[in-house]
Amino acid sequence: MLVTGKELLQDAHKNNYAVGAFNVNNMEIVQAIIEAAEETNSPVILQASQGGLKYAGIEYIAELGKLAANKAKVPVVLHLDHGTDFDQVMLCIRHGFTSVMIDGSKHELKENINITKKIIEVAHAVGVSVEAELGKIGGTEDNITVDERDATFTDPEEAKLFVEETDVDSLAIAVGTAHGVYKGEPKIDFDRIRTIKGLLNMPLVLHGSSGVPADSIERAVAAGINKINIDTDLRIAFTQAIKDFNKKNPDNIDPRKLLGPAKEAMKEVIKEKMNLFGSAGRA
Ligand code: 13P
Repeated sequence: MLVTGKELLQDAHKNNYAVGAFNVNNMEIVQAIIEAAEETNSPVILQASQGGLKYAGIEYIAELGKLAANKAKVPVVLHLDHGTDFDQVMLCIRHGFTSVMIDGSKHELKENINITKKIIEVAHAVGVSVEAELGKIGGTEDNITVDERDATFTDPEEAKLFVEETDVDSLAIAVGTAHGVYKGEPKIDFDRIRTIKGLLNMPLVLHGSSGVPADSIERAVAAGINKINIDTDLRIAFTQAIKDFNKKNPDNIDPRKLLGPAKEAMKEVIKEKMNLFGSAGRA
């Protein structure tokens, strides 16, 4: 069933677990995520990135997501990842997204507050949840790069002010993760998560969570993270399965034979994540 982000993340916040938010680009990926959620009895978030919307088109992503959510036995959120501007967010709301992110993190605090507030006024009026970002999360996602030197951690007092001013439903914080593939092991500032959680008492979001070791994820969840974004790990599983299949079956010409195993490989990774995040059994 299709639900709002607020409904799902409030439960995670109250019960100290995290929900996986997985990026979707095509039907097989949507199916892999929904099947994993049903097999682990887990709530789940399907999210569309800027690249995903460009690749598949907003109509396809929205209709695929809603169809999958409405057929699913578990609660599903359809979420916009890193929304760039007012018009795009409105378009997603019109197409039935139940949660949107407005990423004003590249702006100064005051400007970020103003941009976020404007979105929230409309989104909340029609029952759509809003995620915002404060601080800068490093790395590259769909060709948008934040230089690691520019990636600055979220300031707890600024976060408190931001939430008081905007009434945002969840907040993405910069605490040491980065989008994409890590060169070394990420160093997460768990104390900062705990401090922000203590001040805000609301759902917190971790971006760039692929490649973060399992024990760090567990510690981040224990510290107060309730939404964990995963894209790169899914891409790797999907693409590796295709490479393996092609190597073993160079004469195959049937796309279904290629994409079937890729979907299964991705599903296994998602199920592992759902168990690790603590969302398994929470649907
Ligand atoms: P990864 O690609 O590092 O998993 O990050 C995904 C993400 O944060 C999407 O917003």
